[in-house]
Amino acid sequence: MVCGKLVKLRAFEPAEADALWRWNHDPDVMRWMDDGYAASAAQVRRRLEERPSNSYGDVLYAVEVLADGALIGLVRLRDAEPETGVAELDLYLGEKDYWGRGYATDALRSMCRFGFEDMRLHKISLTVVTENHAAISVYKKAGFVEEGRLRSVFRRDGRWYDQFTMGLLEGELLDDRP
Ligand SMILES: CC(C)(COP(=O)(O)OP(=O)(O)OC[C@H]1O[C@@H](n2cnc3c(N)ncnc32)[C@H](O)[C@@H]1OP(=O)(O)O)[C@@H](O)C(=O)NCCC(=O)NCCS
Repeated sequence: MVCGKLVKLRAFEPAEADALWRWNHDPDVMRWMDDGYAASAAQVRRRLEERPSNSYGDVLYAVEVLADGALIGLVRLRDAEPETGVAELDLYLGEKDYWGRGYATDALRSMCRFGFEDMRLHKISLTVVTENHAAISVYKKAGFVEEGRLRSVFRRDGRWYDQFTMGLLEGELLDDRP
């Protein structure tokens, strides 16, 4: 478990599959995310049940609000390579009522802290659609910098969009903890 100022990061329970399914079917939440082929609630539950335990190569954490215990999203560090110490990060909050209150920033900083301090990562990378201004603002607040632009890689509503690749090196995290 990882504790931030506003949120706690902890493992997902299979019983929480319905929330995950609902978030994945909300067009506002999925606006700038790759939603692939739709899965049924039963399939999402089975995936959670059959998921191997969290480990170096794949850490999937639920984001829970400390103040009221609400499950509001997820954050994941995946594909970490021991040879390079580089991992990819995914972040999203599925509960829209909780947007704009600093929860994503706190979840991101907490997961990065865990990645650098506990997993001894050297670098955390991510990709984000260039139109996803709220997400880019959250990543920049934590210290991520744009490293490149992938042209025409994300398709939504019949249009192609670019993505930024962003990265954060150990020692670069802009933390709000003393
Ligand atoms: C993007 C997302 C993670 C932000 O979560 P959040 O909890 O609202 O984020 P925070 O409250 O911590 O911070 C949001 C910041 O973005 C800013 N912001 C919001 N909308 C913005 C916009 N259109 N343009 C620029 N900045 C914006 C806010 O002002 C705030 O910055 P501030 O604290 O300096 O004022 C959340 O909306 C989400 O999960 N969206 C759907 C999934 C998604 O897109 N995930 C990212 C995939 S790469």
